Amino acid sequence: KSGLITIDQGFKNTGSTTSAITFLDGELGILRYRGYPIEELAEKSTFLEVAYLLIYGELPKKDTFESFKKDVTHHTLVHEDIKKILEGFPSNAHPMGVLSSLVCSLTAFYPESLDPNRSWDKVNLGIIRLIAKMPTFAAWAYKNEMGHPVIYPDNNLDYCGNFLKMMFALPADQYEADPVVASALDKLLILHADHEQNCSTSTVRIVGSSQASLYSSVSAGINALWGPLHGGANQAVIEMLEAIKEDGGNSKKWLEKAKDKDDPFRLMGFGHRVYKNFDPRAKIIKKAADDVLAKMGVNDPVLDIAKELEEAALKDPYFVERKLYPNVDFYSGIIYRAIGIPTEMFTVMFALGRLPGWIAQWKEMRANSEPIGRPRQVYVGEVERNYVPISKR
Ligand code: SDX
Repeated sequence: KSGLITIDQGFKNTGSTTSAITFLDGELGILRYRGYPIEELAEKSTFLEVAYLLIYGELPKKDTFESFKKDVTHHTLVHEDIKKILEGFPSNAHPMGVLSSLVCSLTAFYPESLDPNRSWDKVNLGIIRLIAKMPTFAAWAYKNEMGHPVIYPDNNLDYCGNFLKMMFALPADQYEADPVVASALDKLLILHADHEQNCSTSTVRIVGSSQASLYSSVSAGINALWGPLHGGANQAVIEMLEAIKEDGGNSKKWLEKAKDKDDPFRLMGFGHRVYKNFDPRAKIIKKAADDVLAKMGVNDPVLDIAKELEEAALKDPYFVERKLYPNVDFYSGIIYRAIGIPTEMFTVMFALGRLPGWIAQWKEMRANSEPIGRPRQVYVGEVERNYVPISKR
């Protein structure tokens, strides 16, 4: 109340809340969801089980998990009028813009979602609907881009199998998801599921703090994630690696470019606001990239360039001094590409993975009745001055 306002741009040293969902230690490279190490969850759990853990706080007992899965499966279909919204987008629309629009359109189809005082049962139904429909929206955004007819959800398939079928099946071709692909995708979604108060999650919380609906808050989070400094980095990494390949694989030259202060180019997929050591997710994804590409018999020269770039950067004083390590986005695109996901869909995959985290954080903020977010500022503009008629300007 002293009136003294400290500015902390980017909130580098500002805590916005207390949270019991995700713990990460940037120095030690630790990441845990509700206390469970990410390494164990990536190895032993499934994305839907991790979604349940993040949102409800505990690993579910068998019958609870079965009914959760049944509820999610029951709601995968979307209202036919949402197809009309999808068809309104030109095929060159970026899938992230389509995704955030379709998620926000749910407020029109479920107007009860707009009532801030609705019962937690109704909120929970809204949560189930969102988890169930997000894969359908994501796949349909891709179909719109390809000019292909949408493929409806198949409730006989599990979460990843159903998503892959909606993505890649065509009316003329039967599609069976390769179990290697489905399990790699499931692991990637687990690794993206939450990351405490990152940019997009903070966006979801601040939009939700005005008591806007879950759908509007998540739609805002999708837009924050889209930026190349955040989730959009996974698309930017592959575009960077492709450019280096086109440039004769000269990664040293691009490393120098990233260090040049007069050049806006940054090494995409490197550096992190919190991790000043290896991003534990990057370690797991790097190993998964080797496994998946080997199992699929894919030899992607871009993977070799990525490893070269990483090796060079980890020895380069500029990166070492600034503690810049590969982050979650550095290797994920290589796996997405190997399983057939196109580059412009990479950030949609990040959003699909991050959805349970956004939901869990929004729910925690609302359950704790946190106040509306309204930061202060230090004014540095003009002192008071009087209006001058245009004839006298
Ligand atoms: C994600 O927050 C999260 O948890 C995010 C995320 C999640 O799960 O939600 O982990 C997902 O967004 C991962 C980050 C993906 N973004 C990128 O890979 C884009 C490239 N990375 C950078 O833009 C940057 O590292 C950020 C945005 C990730 C972090 O930026 P900060 O914390 O604001 O750090 P900074 O910009 O102040 O950089 C510190 C120094 C600067 O140099 P100096 O001014 O000290 O000389 O490091 C330099 C920067 O120029 N630097 C880089 C660099 N990252 C930082 N230089 C070259 N290449 C880079 N990648």
